[in-house]
Amino acid sequence: MAVSESTWTPSSWRELPVSQQPEWPSSEQAEAVRARLAKLPPLVFAGEARALRGALAQVAEGRAFVLQAGDCAESFHDFSAITIREKLKILLQMAAVLTYGATLPVVKIGRIAGQFVKPRSKPTETVGSEEIPAFRGHMVHDDAPTAEARRPDPQRMVDGYHQAAATLNLVRAFTKGGFADLNQVHTWNQEFVATSPEGRRYEVIASEIERALRFMEACGFDLRDAPQLHEVDVWTSHEGLLLDYEEALTRRDSLTGDWYDCSAHMLWIGERTRGLDEAHVEFFGGVHNPIGVKLGPAAAAEDVLALCERLNPERVPGRLTLIVRMGAEQVFRLLPPVLRAVRDAEHPVVWISDPMHANLRRTATGRKTRRFEDVLGEIEGFFAACRRERVWPGGVHLEFTGEDVTECTGGSEGVLEEQLDARYMTLCDPRLNARQSLDLAFRVAELMRSV
Ligand code: PEP
Ligand code: CO
Repeated sequence: MAVSESTWTPSSWRELPVSQQPEWPSSEQAEAVRARLAKLPPLVFAGEARALRGALAQVAEGRAFVLQAGDCAESFHDFSAITIREKLKILLQMAAVLTYGATLPVVKIGRIAGQFVKPRSKPTETVGSEEIPAFRGHMVHDDAPTAEARRPDPQRMVDGYHQAAATLNLVRAFTKGGFADLNQVHTWNQEFVATSPEGRRYEVIASEIERALRFMEACGFDLRDAPQLHEVDVWTSHEGLLLDYEEALTRRDSLTGDWYDCSAHMLWIGERTRGLDEAHVEFFGGVHNPIGVKLGPAAAAEDVLALCERLNPERVPGRLTLIVRMGAEQVFRLLPPVLRAVRDAEHPVVWISDPMHANLRRTATGRKTRRFEDVLGEIEGFFAACRRERVWPGGVHLEFTGEDVTECTGGSEGVLEEQLDARYMTLCDPRLNARQSLDLAFRVAELMRSV
């Protein structure tokens, strides 16, 4: 039985079955860390989460598009101003391509500043002859493939909090301090991207945007006073998996009296933890942030409808985003009944496509990879299903990096399977590199124009 609305508290999830949580070696130590985190300042404010909800409401109404993207798992080791800046550059580039290509506002959400915990299909993995705990993210333990490194350490929640705070600080500085100014549109094109076909295509758009700005000035508009041109909102999000951490960062908003999970603007519930009578749905049912839920190929229309009723009983537009990850082969067949059920029940949800998580495959040498063609194929299938059911295809959810990695195959400059070893750097799932991401943005902009 789920705990009812009137009995919800930040810890009421503890009475329900919970999966994918680490077993902390000492519950006293875990409790001490939770108490410490509960006293630290919130990372985001309730008012910001409400502003994002408002932006997502526009998407639910078919008047904007979401670009949600970032690492599969952020790393405690690979943490620097440069990696954050490079991620922001590609996010801004993709958003420019989509905004310009489809002439629609783009709501930009990073998988950033808190994406430190991973769900696993299997609790252990075999390394040599040893069976060790599977990697669950740097907020739980280290990634080195030894039993010792994989021992959960609750102190890592505090380290994760501080890294999230420093990341967010930099994201705010970059996005509000001139770096995201549309006059900088050319400087977001990194050298290794600029020399590629998609980089050159980007340069054309960047020049057109610049001309449009000069044209407006020539017409007498004073663009210096237009904040929309000089700064952007980049919102933060992560999978709300580790409930010890999420509970400890949950605060009551002094303005409305409502509870918000102040670890990020938006949180999503993963495919493996969306059970209706389980802890994650209970917890996120009670906080007022915008919430996402991943829907895999097994998601039946009635389950999805029950999730909508449970997580958004008042049908607040922008509160609930459904993130579809059904696979390139299956999405067009499996999604329409789900779209219909939610549409007919008049739930004002945002539909977005995660074309990454149901298109994983292994190479002959055992590398996890994804084909660019499958990623694009799932987005196309998603758009086609939405078009068929007259539902707004509200956006995409991607795993990318600003670096020149070789983790996914294909794209216009085709990374080959035998090249994957060259720069395979991810901690978890394979990410699109900056060129592949930009390539994808152009293709998605074309799909958006055809809606
Ligand atoms: C993820 O987004 O990294 C993830 C694990 O997704 P899913 O829950 O869809 O498998
Ligand atoms: Co992933």
